[in-house]
Amino acid sequence: MDIQLNTENLNGFVKAEDYAAILPEVTKAHEHLENKTGQGLEFTGWLDLPERTTEAQLDEYIQLGEEVREHSDCVISIGIGGSYIGLRAALEFLISEQKIPVYYAGNNLSSGYLFHLLKELQDKRITVVVISKSGTTTEPALAFRIILKFMKEKYSADELKKRIICITNPVKGALRSMSKKEGYRTFPVNSDVGGRFSVLTPAGLVPLAMAGIDIRGLIQGAREAQKHCSVMDIQENIAYKYAITRYLLYKKGKVIEILATFYQRLSFVEEWWKQLFGESEGKDGKGIYPASVSFTTDLHSLGQFIQEGERTMFETFLIATESGYEMIIPGSDEDMDNFNCVAGQDLDYVNKRAYQATAMAHFEGGVPNMLITISRFDAKNLGQLFYFFEKAVAITGYLLEVNPFNQPGVEAYKTKMFQLLGRK
Ligand code: PA5
Repeated sequence: MDIQLNTENLNGFVKAEDYAAILPEVTKAHEHLENKTGQGLEFTGWLDLPERTTEAQLDEYIQLGEEVREHSDCVISIGIGGSYIGLRAALEFLISEQKIPVYYAGNNLSSGYLFHLLKELQDKRITVVVISKSGTTTEPALAFRIILKFMKEKYSADELKKRIICITNPVKGALRSMSKKEGYRTFPVNSDVGGRFSVLTPAGLVPLAMAGIDIRGLIQGAREAQKHCSVMDIQENIAYKYAITRYLLYKKGKVIEILATFYQRLSFVEEWWKQLFGESEGKDGKGIYPASVSFTTDLHSLGQFIQEGERTMFETFLIATESGYEMIIPGSDEDMDNFNCVAGQDLDYVNKRAYQATAMAHFEGGVPNMLITISRFDAKNLGQLFYFFEKAVAITGYLLEVNPFNQPGVEAYKTKMFQLLGRK
């Protein structure tokens, strides 16, 4: 595995005997997951998805991506939740690989946002990809209505057939019926994979291929993680170590986990992680609340609370060995700001010292922490990271004795909103 887990800043919070005591429960969770006998088993298709993804599928997506980049300057991706955040996390993480811009719509109900987006894209050559597993979600459905009108004003019906691509349920849903009627190209989203686990299905892979991302590397990384994370060994298998540690901390009253990153490119990995962990664990009155911070920015806002506020949290730091960019700090003859101590160093050297200082200070302040390190910002590392977190949340979910693969609570607001809208 390129990614590593370090747990030395848990000393005094989680002990070796805590891991030993929980082993029977972990073994049970592992067997339920691997044998598909646990809660929510109908949505565990993500488990062997990397291995099941064929070269022919990847070829098809890559070829479509090449076609799209020939006739389009940009892509508008319409989707929300699991049909949005994973894609965006991947694109931000792999920003240096991206060949054409991807704009997002249907991820909110803000009229100003859509107004400015369409104004900006008026003169661009556009491909629209609509991603909705159910094909019935309000935000993407309404954004698609508005964007389809905009596209119809720009292009003929024939041209739209190559510029509109729908990724949805293979048999049912409004988006499926509409694309069939209009002749839009469609890709199926696996019915045994829930939205928040769907980044490695066509829901993520197709738009990523359009943007020119190395989807082969992504799947390769996920395959490596699938192999690594299937071993029932809580020291060896880092997804299990992470999952169990989180559970043990929760049992000791640490009910909030803060994912803390030091790179802008990870800010949507944080958003994806929050959905994955929040929707998977937060039910039946249980669950670790997933929060996130972007350091060092948030050290100047939330740092105080983490250092000295309620002692109910733990942190998971996510950092990269190689930042991928060189940004050397210049020397200064006057040294008026006294920073010649780092002259000639890369800015990332200071970022790494900021991480070390933060981890030490927070640990001493009563916030235990773990460290996940990726080696670099490439597709392989990201594929590993996605799978690692998916496997970990499944295990913590089973330890918490919840169904980690449903999200009944997401429906509550929708029912009330449909009543207010008078929707049948
Ligand atoms: O995790 C989930 O299931 C949700 O976040 C969905 O992904 C989100 O509501 C979008 O649903 P759909 O893809 O059906 O439009």
